[in-house]
Amino acid sequence: MPNTLSKPNGTSSSTSSNNPDDKGKKQVELQPSFTPTLLERLGITSFHLLNKLIPWYKLPGFIGAFNLAFLRIELRQYNLHDAYATSQAQGSSITDPLPNKCYLGARNSDGKFNDLKQPRMGCTGMRFGRNFPREACAKPSEEELMTPNPRMISERFMARKEGKFIPATTLNLLAAAWIQFQTHDWFFHEQDPNEKLNVPLSEDDKWLDQHMQLYATKPDEALDPSDVKCPGYKNLNTHWWDGSQIYGSSESATQTLRNRHPDGKLSLDSRGREQFLPRDQDGNVLTGFNDNWWVGMEILHTLFALEHNAICDALRKEYPDWSGDQIFDKARLVNCALMAKIHTVEWTPAILAHPALQIGMAANWWGIVGEKLTKIAGRLSKTSEIISGIPGSGAEQDGTPYSLTEEFVSVYRMHSLMPETIAFFSAVDGHHATTIPVVDTTFTKSQSPFDDGLSFADVFYSFGINYPGAITNNNYPNFLRNLRTPDGQVRDLGTVDILRDRERGVPRYCEFRRMLRLSVPKTFEELTGGNKVLAKELAEAYNNDISLVDALVGSHSEPVIPGFGFSETAFRIFILMASRRLKSDRFIAGEWNEEMYTKVGFKWVQNSGMKDVLGRHFPELRETLKASKNVFAPWEMQAKSKEYKGVETNA
Ligand code: HEM
Repeated sequence: MPNTLSKPNGTSSSTSSNNPDDKGKKQVELQPSFTPTLLERLGITSFHLLNKLIPWYKLPGFIGAFNLAFLRIELRQYNLHDAYATSQAQGSSITDPLPNKCYLGARNSDGKFNDLKQPRMGCTGMRFGRNFPREACAKPSEEELMTPNPRMISERFMARKEGKFIPATTLNLLAAAWIQFQTHDWFFHEQDPNEKLNVPLSEDDKWLDQHMQLYATKPDEALDPSDVKCPGYKNLNTHWWDGSQIYGSSESATQTLRNRHPDGKLSLDSRGREQFLPRDQDGNVLTGFNDNWWVGMEILHTLFALEHNAICDALRKEYPDWSGDQIFDKARLVNCALMAKIHTVEWTPAILAHPALQIGMAANWWGIVGEKLTKIAGRLSKTSEIISGIPGSGAEQDGTPYSLTEEFVSVYRMHSLMPETIAFFSAVDGHHATTIPVVDTTFTKSQSPFDDGLSFADVFYSFGINYPGAITNNNYPNFLRNLRTPDGQVRDLGTVDILRDRERGVPRYCEFRRMLRLSVPKTFEELTGGNKVLAKELAEAYNNDISLVDALVGSHSEPVIPGFGFSETAFRIFILMASRRLKSDRFIAGEWNEEMYTKVGFKWVQNSGMKDVLGRHFPELRETLKASKNVFAPWEMQAKSKEYKGVETNA
């Protein structure tokens, strides 16, 4: 359990950094959230020494994975900070008594009662935490917010040049849709329609107006003087990995979606041979989180609604006397855990295709003893996450109440994954059927490929062979840089991504790295790893002041570790927070057993992967998927699909 909650959360003081490159710079000291054991400290120090000679990613895979495990301990020590001045915000059994014992064995849709001693922890409406002390994340002045002009940065470093789509050839479009689908489970900020941000535009800007007007992010009410300097922002979703994009982030939302089906199923409407998510009278999809909807969300939400219903069938068979509520609750637990597992052992190794990560991510779930032995013998170590994996190792908050963080949101700004167009093919014989601009599959138009006669199997196959965009400079799709959303707003998401990080106090690139104890570039050329042209462009845009480079732009500009789909800077936040989502959760790290999940349910999670889920609901895909090692890497194309020569499937 938390061991330093008595520490005032987020406190820090000004001293020098522990990075030797930064001697003399005014620094915010990172105060430990928890204290590693002697053995762990020894491991951290040894790898520090080793890394002076060889960075972790150049070590043999197994040693590299151990290096990362110790790095994660160090990150837990220094980079977890609560956004509340006191831990009272997390509630107690007195302020938030358990209303029904069913929540001991089932997820509460508001996200409450995951931790029974701090029942509000991670629930809907709780603030995003920080990976850096709050003093380092102060709200900027108006001038700081607009300097340099975020639209200029978007035009120069985000805009995809005409005909210059940069594909990520180790991934498929399913990987792009998957991560957006997951972020919709984890987080979304609230906007304030009464508070506007006006981005000034240059005279030759082709934007439809004199300035670009955006709603500001809505800050939470100030509960403490520190909230004025560094406001807290609420998460509209639960912070937990609880499938809230499917099930909703409130008990009432869940009830609407369930429609009281006697077998605990989610509502789906049949059209011909296919089942679709239900819609309201205006054509808006009815699901847990339906913002920023497109065909990618349509197929993944439908797939996991079908999966939920299949789990319900299996449970009903085993427990004929159970009520619909009992079945629903256990099916949700199983479905959520399965998504968490797929993300951990399949999606992540696809986007971070490095031997240390292949070992490390499998170990996050199964431990270093591996899947086979764990399945036969269960956990060999009761509590060691390294030996036997995080699930079942015991829930732990490492000294800071669990929440996702502003920096975590920032590193998932991966809009460049989106292409401009999607080429659709038949899953049966592979022929090219049609190519549709992504924008024509957004919001209420998300079913347009189905209206054109395509099936879910066709669309999944197409997502399996289309490339997403690479996460790098000048690769934002043009439709997202001029996006009209159903609420009437028109936004350039390139500008928005820059502005949101600044607005929410996410430190700029150099400070961001300093806070992670990474080396901090002194020159633009050092930042770009010797790319002189890019260095010159950055220096020009950022007025020769390297400290101003935005976290996102710097991350897109730094040299990439071989096999990595995103920057090492972002990766540091990722290794800390990816494990934390599992380790903090009572239903995953804590009560990971057949009693909680049922025998059928526990087996369902442990024996299924994304291939099984796809094959279960769309048997036409089984043959194609036989050859696939990772469902999020490009699938083997059928002969007829290879005849198509468009950029969507050809690099
Ligand atoms: C058709 C596809 C997409 C659309 C229409 C879309 C649209 C949007 C919009 C309108 C916002 C809110 C902007 C604001 O703050 O004013 C947003 C935020 C965001 N999007 Fe996307 N997006 C898409 C794909 C993606 C993908 C593939 C990712 C990858 C992870 C992604 C990650 C994010 C993140 C991290 C945020 C910030 C959320 C927050 O502030 O809490 N989006 N997107």
